Amino acid sequence: MKIILIGATSGIGRSLAELYASQGHELVVTGRRVTLLEELKNQFPDKLIHPLEMDVAKIDDARKLMDSCEKLLGEIDLIIINAGVGYPKATYEQEINTIDINVRGFVALAQWSYNYFAKKGRGQLVGVSSLASQTGSAYSPEYHASKAFMANYMSGLRMRSAKYNPNVYVTDIRPGYVDTPMTKQNKGMFWVATPEKAARQIANAIVSKRKVVYITKRYIIIATLLKILPEWLLSKLF
Ligand SMILES: NC(=O)c1ccc[n+]([C@@H]2O[C@H](COP(=O)([O-])OP(=O)(O)OC[C@H]3O[C@@H](n4cnc5c(N)ncnc54)[C@H](OP(=O)(O)O)[C@@H]3O)[C@@H](O)[C@H]2O)c1
Repeated sequence: MKIILIGATSGIGRSLAELYASQGHELVVTGRRVTLLEELKNQFPDKLIHPLEMDVAKIDDARKLMDSCEKLLGEIDLIIINAGVGYPKATYEQEINTIDINVRGFVALAQWSYNYFAKKGRGQLVGVSSLASQTGSAYSPEYHASKAFMANYMSGLRMRSAKYNPNVYVTDIRPGYVDTPMTKQNKGMFWVATPEKAARQIANAIVSKRKVVYITKRYIIIATLLKILPEWLLSKLF
């Protein structure tokens, strides 16, 4: 497969890139920390890995870089938008940054990707949202809202596929807790997965063209609870 993986420098994205590279897929890997992308390429010297510096918050540049990826790869099979940020008790600037990356950046890339696949008549777009998409949060309302946006946007794209583009698949990946640099400062985490385990389950969900998947699988229990618990109770947990 020919894959673009947005946000491949650390955590879940890095493990996913390593998994796909070890399976021999051709990959464009993006992020702002170019040295980590080069490190990834050097890890797999005999594989086709193309590091690409991209800041998702610079949406016009990011879309132009997607055009250059198309030229580089020829036919793209799979685009994974994993880049995201989250801050515990964010400042105003951090809240806006979260929206710039998780919402504006996501739409800029998801819209490009969906249109690309729709024009080709086939392909798969994957977005890494979160279990957080299922509820608000007293600690990081902007993060949870940004992930709810992603989940809802992907749901809309799936509806568009059902109407017009039956061979364009959209997969919403909703991790619970994964041990990555993003969650280093978090307290009270449970059922924490390694990024390697998360990557394996994500890759399986992608192959199966799942619509929505919780990572790890047992978080579906929490997701179901989140739909029925009242806000006063949720505010004690999140
Ligand atoms: N870890 C969890 O428990 C958890 C749970 C639910 C959802 N998620 C989601 O999973 C995704 C990956 O997170 P992670 O936990 O693996 O955290 P991470 O290790 O901090 O990885 C975040 C990735 O996003 C990229 N990124 C951030 N800002 C960017 C920007 N402006 N432009 C381009 N790339 C940017 C980073 O690359 P650079 O810094 O090099 O740019 C990095 O590759 C995120 O969307 C996160 O919300 C994580």
